[in-house]
Amino acid sequence: MIFDTHAHYDDEAFDKDRDELLKGMNRNGVEFIVNVGASMDSTKKALELADKYPFLYTAVGVHPSESGELTEKDIVWLKEKAAKPKVVAIGEIGLDYYWPDPDKAIQKKWFEKQLQLAGETKLPIIVHSRDAAQDTLDILKSWKKDLTRGVIHCFSYTKEIAREYLNMDYYFGIGGVLTFKNAKKLIEAVEYIPMDRILLETDCPYLAPEPYRGKRNQSTYLDLVAERLSEIKKISKEEIFVQTMQNAKNFYFGGSL
Ligand code: NI
Repeated sequence: MIFDTHAHYDDEAFDKDRDELLKGMNRNGVEFIVNVGASMDSTKKALELADKYPFLYTAVGVHPSESGELTEKDIVWLKEKAAKPKVVAIGEIGLDYYWPDPDKAIQKKWFEKQLQLAGETKLPIIVHSRDAAQDTLDILKSWKKDLTRGVIHCFSYTKEIAREYLNMDYYFGIGGVLTFKNAKKLIEAVEYIPMDRILLETDCPYLAPEPYRGKRNQSTYLDLVAERLSEIKKISKEEIFVQTMQNAKNFYFGGSL
């Protein structure tokens, strides 16, 4: 069975067939999904989805590219929602320097506000970091003692950066990019990362694996990522499913499920 540790089923790409798709998940081998907040609005929608589908959990938080909209009042609201039983993480939060807006100082400010929230609620964090390796690492190092667990979502950095995060006991979110033809750097990192630190994630509707690259992604496609991972790690796909399921449960539920 599959645990999709990072999805965005609140996205409008699913407006036409969301219910049908989600209702078929268990039948199609997907046991759990964590729907991750990216803005205030998507966090609200994610909470509604968690109320509706027993196997769907949620993370509350605001993506760096959306952090320009945040206010102190929003942080209070996020903290209140974080207490709900099906909220299992704070995310996705972090730094994204690929886009010029909002500027770095604003991104850092709200990243740290949400790290503080994770510290206060004792929830794990889901980190989005793009073209911001050093700043992300510096900030996470400085918060290490306040935080429980963390995952670097859609890990896209080198083996050397992976080593730094392993030293801090982080997990690594691995998805469709692993199947892309130009994934050489990622494959090197994945060869290096121990199996007990890998979480399978779609980031759907984005980042569909080959042969669906460019199309709408969904949790059942993680089968293709598991297939590629089994080739790289030289273990069976079944072992990949068992190990990544255990990893995801340890990460989100503290191993209690
Ligand atoms: Ni995402």
